[in-house]
Amino acid sequence: MVEKTLAIIKPDAIKKKTIGKIIKRIEDEEFIICEMKMLHLTKEEAQGFYIVHKAKPFYESLTDFMSSGKIIVMVLERENAIYHWRTVMGATDPALAEPGTIRHAYGFSIERNAVHGSDSPTTAIWEIDFFFKNEGNK
Ligand code: CMP
Repeated sequence: MVEKTLAIIKPDAIKKKTIGKIIKRIEDEEFIICEMKMLHLTKEEAQGFYIVHKAKPFYESLTDFMSSGKIIVMVLERENAIYHWRTVMGATDPALAEPGTIRHAYGFSIERNAVHGSDSPTTAIWEIDFFFKNEGNK
């Protein structure tokens, strides 16, 4: 089934100058980039995006990190986009990510892990709306 997912290139990957390599990988994996923008989240916006993790011990640090520099947010489309992007990203912890995945190549730690992807169809709709409101689900 053709579907859409939200992808984020996180501040650590942008500081490392890996934007181009990550976008090339996205295109090589035959995703269509439907929407894309660069922005700098406020702490409050990062808290809103990661609200599902509010009770987790890493929430404060994660939202500090995600508001520490610019990010790139994209809507990606292809067959099984959600599962495929999660496979290409690799495990959350780069130390456990398979060779060949983006987090294995560019992630630094379980928090500074280079990229984000939606984890389910419901989450994808919510996350795309968070950044693109009436643009991303067209
Ligand atoms: P992401 O895919 O953006 O979803 C939630 C994020 O929380 C995750 O990537 C990591 O950046 C971060 N995260 C998840 N687990 C931990 C953890 N145990 N310690 C610190 N950060 C974490």
